[in-house]
Parts: sequence; C-alpha cells; structure tokens
Amino acid sequence: DKGNHRHFMEKEIYEQPEVVTHTLAHYIDFAKGEIRDGADKLDFAALDRLAISACGTAYYAGLIGKYWFERYARLPVEIDVASEFRYREMPLTGKMAALFVSQSGETADTLASLRYCKGEGVAIGAIVNVAESTIAREADAVFPTLAGPEIGVASTKAFTCQLAVLASLALAAAKARGTLTRAQESEMVQALVEGRRIFGEVLRSVQPRIERLSRELSQYKDVLYLGRGTNYPLALEGALKLKEISYIHAEGYAAGELKHGPIALIDEAMPVIVIAPHDKLFEKTASNMQEVAARGGRIILITDEKGARAVSLKTMETIILPQVADIVTPILYALPVQLIAYHTAVFMGTDVDQPRNLAKSVTVE
Ligand code: F6R
Repeated sequence: DKGNHRHFMEKEIYEQPEVVTHTLAHYIDFAKGEIRDGADKLDFAALDRLAISACGTAYYAGLIGKYWFERYARLPVEIDVASEFRYREMPLTGKMAALFVSQSGETADTLASLRYCKGEGVAIGAIVNVAESTIAREADAVFPTLAGPEIGVASTKAFTCQLAVLASLALAAAKARGTLTRAQESEMVQALVEGRRIFGEVLRSVQPRIERLSRELSQYKDVLYLGRGTNYPLALEGALKLKEISYIHAEGYAAGELKHGPIALIDEAMPVIVIAPHDKLFEKTASNMQEVAARGGRIILITDEKGARAVSLKTMETIILPQVADIVTPILYALPVQLIAYHTAVFMGTDVDQPRNLAKSVTVE
C-alpha cells in the first residue's frame, strides 16, 4: 500500500525519519546516551583489520562505514564490491573479520563472498534488512536494519538504515578498542539522536526546491556528482540512483579526481551536483567547484548555511541543509540526493518503482 504517495519509492523516502530512529534505537540507548552492550557482537577489540563487502547501494553504505571504522575506531578496513572480493584471492590472514551489507540478504555475489570467508574460518558479521534471509542465517553475528519491507527497486530507506547501523558499529568498535572516551561517546550518540529528529522537517522543506530543480535536470543527458570524504560515496550513490530510475547518464567522482580526467567533460550541458557540507574538507571541494564554474559548468550545491555563505559563485541551485555533526551528514545528505533522483525520474515519466532491466533481489551472478 502506497498510502498517499505516488510510488513506493516516495513512500519509502518519507519513512526514513521513523525507520532510521527505530534502527538507531536498536543499537543506542537514547536515555543513557550510550551504545548498547552487544552492539558489537564481533570482537572488534581483537581485530587488526575488517573486510567489508556488498553490491550497489549497500556497497556505498559500506564505503562510508570504512571512513567511520578507520576514523573513530582506528580499525583498518578493506572494501570491495562482492563480485570482485570473491575472486581477488585476498590473503585472509591475521586477526580479521568480514562484514557483509545487504538489504535482501540474498544477493548472489555477496553470499558467495560470505561463504568464501566462512570457509577460511573468518568471523562473519552481516547487516541485513530481511531477517530470515540466507545471508542472515549464515552469518555469525547479524546486525539488523529495521527499515521494514523495501518495495521500490531503488534502495532508499535500507541505505540510510545501513548507515545508522554502520555508525553505531563504528562507535561500538571505537569503545571496544579504547579510541573513544565516555564523553566523546555521549557527544556522538547525542548527535545521532538529535540528527534523526530533523530528517522529517528537512524532507518537507527541501522538496519544492528539488522538484523545481528536477524539472530542469530532466532536460539533460549527463550529470556529474562530486564529493570528498564520506560525501564521495554519497556522490557515487547519487549517480547510481539517478541513472537507475531516470536513465539519465550520471557519474560520481571523488572531488579531487576532477582534474585527473572528468574535467574534460565540463560544459554547460552537464550539470555538476556538489555534495559539500561545511566540514574540514569544504575549502578543497569549493576550489574544485571554482574549476567547474570557470569552465562554464552549471553547479548544484548541496551544503549548509556556512557553506552557502562561503561560496560566491552563481549556482543553478543551492540546497541548504541544517548544520549537523560529521557522523550525521551522510544520512542527512542522502535525503536530497534521493529526492533529486526520484523527482527527476517522475518528470522523465519512467517506471520509478520498477525500472527497466532491474530486479529487487539479484540472486544470479
Ligand atoms: C540500487 C540498488 C542495488 C542494490 C544491490 C544490492 O538502488 O537497489 O544497487 O543495492 O543490488 O542489493 P542487496 O542490498 O539486497 O544485497
């Protein structure tokens, strides 16, 4: 049942404030301001590395997770798409664990990677949305996302719930490894708890502007997404979401890679969506944006008040989000990124919930 929404995808986008809260509450004791005991059913303290693997959108969630595990828990992470992981003959040495991320829990390559690691005696964790799935059954430790059934083929609420779990696990790992003080834990937890309160309001407030922008975007053939740090995987996710449901060609790049090739493509016919909260890396991304503008590129900037004030160049559109803590930004910035893909696809008149050639659960290789 789509309720009063036109598509399941839209309904699922708007369910995020609720399901992300629900998921966070599974790992975080809101009242005490702590990560719950048992949030780290993998022995993070004993590990010297973690391997993360997944496909598509779940892989991009894992990529953001890598930044968090390394930054907060000082735990080195290797990450691959599952279709490469399973064949690349990685030496599974030392004290390692493997973490798989999957909405359906049935993705063939992810499952094969899990079985490969299991066969080598590696401890397995799985972040899954479907509790009774094969991946959930075969993992040693299951970390559920509580997104509820996701019907739209393009993943939205499962992605932000995966981020909520990965943030919680990275903090749990940091606690276990002694890289997070009690005060830092309570500050980060507070940031997540407060962050989720604004998601609903943000969805409602950005929507009119995004609809206007999307009408315009639907006229273009190519779109480039740029981001740095945890905004880089979000750029990849934005491009994937746009191409899969609107069929507009889109690419995501690390902002710093712009001058290593893609800058050759910049002209007025390819809008550039820059995902750049005013964080430590903002100045660097802002200078990439100048390079785009200097070549006649049209910029769509997704940022906060501070970021908007810091750049003087003319944009095609600026979407302003509230200023939040670093650990909350990927979840918050995912919302406009999803809405842009959704509304653009609606203007294109595509079958948003069932895009051509795609299946919800990819059980073949
Ligand atoms: C994109 C999308 C796919 C899936 C991928 C993995 O919107 O839905 O890229 O993320 O097929 O699926 P799961 O998470 O079920 O393993």
